[in-house]
Amino acid sequence: MSDLKPSQIVEELDKYIIGQHNAKRSVAIALRNRWRRRQVDPELREEIAPKNIILIGPTGVGKTEIARRLANLTDSPFYKVEASKFTEVGYIGRDVESMIRDLLELTINMLKAREQEAVQGKAREMAEERILDLLLPDSGSRGTRQQSSQAETGSTDDSGLEVYEPEKPAAASETREKLRRMLRDGRLDNRQVDIDVSDRSSSPMVEIFSNTGMEEMGINFKDMLGSMMPRGSSRKRRVTVAEAVEILAQEEAQGLVDMDKVTQEAIEKVEQSGIIFLDEIDKITGKEGGQGPDVSREGVQRDMLPIVEGSTVNTKHGPVKTDHVLFIASGAFHTNKPSDLIPELQGRFPIRVELDSLYKNDFIRILTEPKNALLLQYIALLRTEGMEVAFSDDAVEEIAGFAETVNNQTENIGARRLHTLMEHLLEDILFDAPDIDQKKLEIDRAFVEERLRDVKEDQDLSRYIL
Ligand SMILES: Nc1ncnc2c1ncn2[C@@H]1O[C@H](COP(=O)(O)OP(=O)(O)OP(=O)(O)O)[C@@H](O)[C@H]1O
Ligand SMILES: [Mg+2]
Repeated sequence: MSDLKPSQIVEELDKYIIGQHNAKRSVAIALRNRWRRRQVDPELREEIAPKNIILIGPTGVGKTEIARRLANLTDSPFYKVEASKFTEVGYIGRDVESMIRDLLELTINMLKAREQEAVQGKAREMAEERILDLLLPDSGSRGTRQQSSQAETGSTDDSGLEVYEPEKPAAASETREKLRRMLRDGRLDNRQVDIDVSDRSSSPMVEIFSNTGMEEMGINFKDMLGSMMPRGSSRKRRVTVAEAVEILAQEEAQGLVDMDKVTQEAIEKVEQSGIIFLDEIDKITGKEGGQGPDVSREGVQRDMLPIVEGSTVNTKHGPVKTDHVLFIASGAFHTNKPSDLIPELQGRFPIRVELDSLYKNDFIRILTEPKNALLLQYIALLRTEGMEVAFSDDAVEEIAGFAETVNNQTENIGARRLHTLMEHLLEDILFDAPDIDQKKLEIDRAFVEERLRDVKEDQDLSRYIL
């Protein structure tokens, strides 16, 4: 995944996003540059700073969509965050540095999952042993005897020393092997066993605390509270053998992963190839000398500066340098311009790409071409009711044309218009689907015209409905 060529990245994006070629190109180059930089020898590598990008374009033309799809295409740590989040409630909302912490957290989880995957085989073997121990307490795994079974079956003298002879070891291990074969063949899958599962779910209270920005003080609330709670509490659960294998393997895998190593690696990865997608950056512009929210918006921009420029952010896992993190910002800049951002911040985003407005022909393609195209979604939804719906070409054209008209006449909300239109168009069908006898339905131009006539004739109505 990490070494997709720019053309391949664009190709992947093309599967979901129509048009916007320039934007796709520049993010593809930026992504490839992450990879290129990693190949350069260390001395020069330090000198190569990322070229941050701003995507500018009207609302609903695919900016956020590009970010979402990009995230799946890269092996680099990728985190998308709305800049407006930092201006919410309170005076500045969440502290800006938290985006680096979140990026790191995400990377750690990703690497952890990958490591766990790598030790799956071993973990499974260990889980198998534990289950055999449960099923055959006396056979002893790896030559050691289970504590609990001693108490039950062995006689222990006062000194605590064990004085009991195991039954013929050979016979026991033979049974064990037999059982192992049955286990592997899945013949024990439906048997019930009691296992101890550790209660990992931390209480929701801890979660709430950990999100209130306490981290900036270097206090790790979650861990602190966690350690005050009864730790490692476990409870017995009765599950089938098949489930037990899964649960225990999971548990063993967690134990096998070296978290220190994972954390180190994650920090390195974030510092060297991290990408942060700052969505809605236009929402943090504020007029000079403005009052109220404007002040905090500019505050957010100022807070953002050092991070974008390169500084060290303290996290609970250690300091993270942001010098080489790539930032891709995006915003509609409806009522304002990129030049309304404070100049220092503007300068940190040297590459500007404009996205195009969408018109009828784009809408036709958006409705039908992407892998997750809107029409395909509705067809799939209605198929669950046993209905086969098809859209004729002229119907699609009519919908697309109408979307463009409404966008022109009221407000241009880009491809989002298609969503509101489609809902309105199919409302009756979606409501009645379970009861409709006619299971095959072709939606043609006449149907579209009929359904949309009322809103088409009455502009005010369309303002409300669509
Ligand atoms: N070029 C496109 N190709 C395919 N689908 C698109 C395109 N543009 C927009 N869409 C669809 O429209 C919806 C809204 O797009 P998106 O969230 O990317 O808008 P945006 O550009 O981020 O707008 P905003 O500035 O309001 O955040 C998406 O769910 C997507 O399905
Ligand atoms: Mg968006």
